[in-house]
Amino acid sequence: VPERLTDRYGRTVRDLRLSVTDRCNLRCTYCMPAEGLEWLPGPLLLTTEEITRLGQLAVERLGVERIRLTGGEPLMRRDLEAIVGALSGLRTSRGTRPDIALTTNGLGLHRRAAALRQAGLDRVNISIDTLDPRGYAELTRRDRLDDVLAGAEAAQAAGLSPLKVNAVALPGTVEEQAPRLLRECLRRGWQLRFIEHMPLGPQGSWRADGVVSAEEVLAALRGAGFELTEQGRPGSRPAALWHVAAGAGHPAGDVGIIASVTAPFCQDCDRTRVTADGRVMPCLFSSQETDLRGPLRAGADDDELIRIWAGAMWLKPRAHGSDTVSPAADGTSSTPDTTEAGTGR
Ligand code: GTP
Ligand code: 5AD
Ligand code: SF4
Repeated sequence: VPERLTDRYGRTVRDLRLSVTDRCNLRCTYCMPAEGLEWLPGPLLLTTEEITRLGQLAVERLGVERIRLTGGEPLMRRDLEAIVGALSGLRTSRGTRPDIALTTNGLGLHRRAAALRQAGLDRVNISIDTLDPRGYAELTRRDRLDDVLAGAEAAQAAGLSPLKVNAVALPGTVEEQAPRLLRECLRRGWQLRFIEHMPLGPQGSWRADGVVSAEEVLAALRGAGFELTEQGRPGSRPAALWHVAAGAGHPAGDVGIIASVTAPFCQDCDRTRVTADGRVMPCLFSSQETDLRGPLRAGADDDELIRIWAGAMWLKPRAHGSDTVSPAADGTSSTPDTTEAGTGR
């Protein structure tokens, strides 16, 4: 029985991304259509116990050191505190506890941050693409920026740190919004990361010529007077970091850029993903999925589940290839084999 999840290109999994629901209370244009998706029926979602069992295999048997809960929007699960509590009780074979993080849009977080922290959550990453309330409402199709900011403040107050803010870099607003976001995040001690828009989400929502590149984000920040020094990308993490010198109205700090499109980090990827309905996805972009829920519910033992999981990861592609996609003449792209909107980025 394998003791690690590895793939044919020699990468080893240390990081588990668990989607706990496909539902979301926002409708970000790059992620979902306005009407939402056809949500998975409740009985198909992994239960708290099933999630815990998979987490246990990953941490106790397979060398996983970090677990990140994602969605959809993970706060849509009312049992999220219970899930966090169960996962934070796990121990690796060396006796260490896994790092447990949450990727959220922040809605409702102000009511739950303290309880999540109490349950054992270590960190949160909150998505805030713009600080302009109207721009936020247009992008997410919901006028909720105030709630999100309240959520971020509550998370910080609860000791969920470092608090990271994710902002997808979007055309048209980056010159104005990127400096504003960076100034605010530096002031509040939040670590901001800009993300290049990747070809995921609803058909037609991504255009190769609509990707604001890392270079363009840096130019916008430098143009606004920020002094940036490159720090490099730590290990298997997606964000390359720049040090920001103290300046007018803000202290020194860091800013990250996740250049998934122009500088993919696939060669260092150490992730395995499980969808909310219990399928293993070896890569964010892969269409090769392997069902774990069926065997789990049919009574498979730990070794059997591990063999299935290991087999799924062996299929992990070398790279996602969206940096090499050639834009069609009309600017829309033929993208790799992706497009499962809204579930488990
Ligand atoms: P940290 O552990 O805090 O560094 O988390 P993270 O940046 O890995 O996670 P988060 O959920 O905040 O994701 C930030 C961005 O990175 C999102 O836009 C994700 O879509 C993107 N991302 C996360 N995992 C992958 C991956 O495996 N491949 C690619 N290409 N992008 C990813
Ligand atoms: N490209 C890049 N980032 C994306 N996110 C959602 N869809 C995309 C995409 N197509 C971001 C969200 C959130 C994080 C989990 O992924 O904004 O910050
Ligand atoms: Fe919801 Fe995140 Fe998709 Fe926005 S990007 S609709 S917050 S899942």
